[in-house]
Amino acid sequence: MKHRPVKISAVGTHIPARVVTNDDLSLTLDTSDEWISTRSGIRERRIVENGEAASDLGAVAASRALEAAGIDAADLDLIIVASLSPDMLFPSTASFISAKIGADGTPAFDLSAACTGFIYALATGNAFVASGQADRVLVVGAEAVSKMIDWTDRGTAVLFGDGAGAVLLEPADSRDEGIIGFDLGNDPSGTEMLQLPAGGSRNPATEETVSARQHFIKMNGREVFKFAARVIESSARKVLDRSGCKIGDVDLFVPHQANIRIIDAAARKLGIPPERVFSNLERYGNTSCASIPLCLEEAAAGGRITSGDLVLMVGFGAGLAWGSCLVRFGDLQRIQE
Ligand code: COA
Repeated sequence: MKHRPVKISAVGTHIPARVVTNDDLSLTLDTSDEWISTRSGIRERRIVENGEAASDLGAVAASRALEAAGIDAADLDLIIVASLSPDMLFPSTASFISAKIGADGTPAFDLSAACTGFIYALATGNAFVASGQADRVLVVGAEAVSKMIDWTDRGTAVLFGDGAGAVLLEPADSRDEGIIGFDLGNDPSGTEMLQLPAGGSRNPATEETVSARQHFIKMNGREVFKFAARVIESSARKVLDRSGCKIGDVDLFVPHQANIRIIDAAARKLGIPPERVFSNLERYGNTSCASIPLCLEEAAAGGRITSGDLVLMVGFGAGLAWGSCLVRFGDLQRIQE
């Protein structure tokens, strides 16, 4: 079967208004701006208000992507939402977002691949459009990770932030633009390294799980660091090789924003010069599934992604999973501020 080329035609994002700086965190945690910024590159993050959930951010990002593309929610064939901080275990956050944007009757589901979720969702949406099963797929990364954070654990609390981003996938007019390829992978020996232990069927909520603070993200930071630095390089090389492209062809490298030392190490190993690496980690921290679409929107706004550019995106996280996507961008529609 001949597959259709697929393009990322529009992007929309949304971040909460509330800024929490490293100095703010050091008021309640044994940490400092100096430690956080030198060890992670993060200076501040955005945090949702009480009562706000992932779908509240995701719906705004989704609406903005639709507005940028000049289409209605009713024109969508499928909505896929990636999130590690879903509103609830079920129904899906995709269903809550559908209700908010008015996508009545449109198929919608969540995809669970932790921080690699956006790349996995992109690969899934791409398969629907490429095969002709859908013409317009909205892929949303929506996170209120702050709700899953133990604010007494300095090893995780300083790293994450909230936000959402959405992209629209459509058939491309020619094979000169659009998604070129993916590399996806998962190392199941690393399930213990990064997880939210309780609240699922393994450890359902009890007074003990609550008092043991098991309903928050637990992480072995050092091991995740080593894993990330390794897989970003190997996955990026694989997707480039399979696509017949070289590192030197890449106009912009957009890695998942988890730690600037991970990003710098990966770029160095790959031989990508700093001016071709995108990062906004300093202002948002690790927004999990939202990090890559937040970067895409900001890069397009700043003229760092223009028509014809080859963009390499790489995600990684709990699983331990990873995923890369290589795209030749055409015009990426976004709302002009
Ligand atoms: N403020 C001050 N000190 C802190 C701290 C904080 N926020 N967090 C940890 N420390 C302390 C540790 O307790 C440790 O103290 P000790 O030596 O007395 O035991 C010391 O700093 C060094 O800890 P270490 O874990 O070796 O630091 P690190 O340089 O590896 O940095 C991370 C820690 C978490 C920033 C880093 O490992 C990391 O970013 N890992 C990857 C995490 C990630 O990306 N996760 C998401 C993937 S999607």
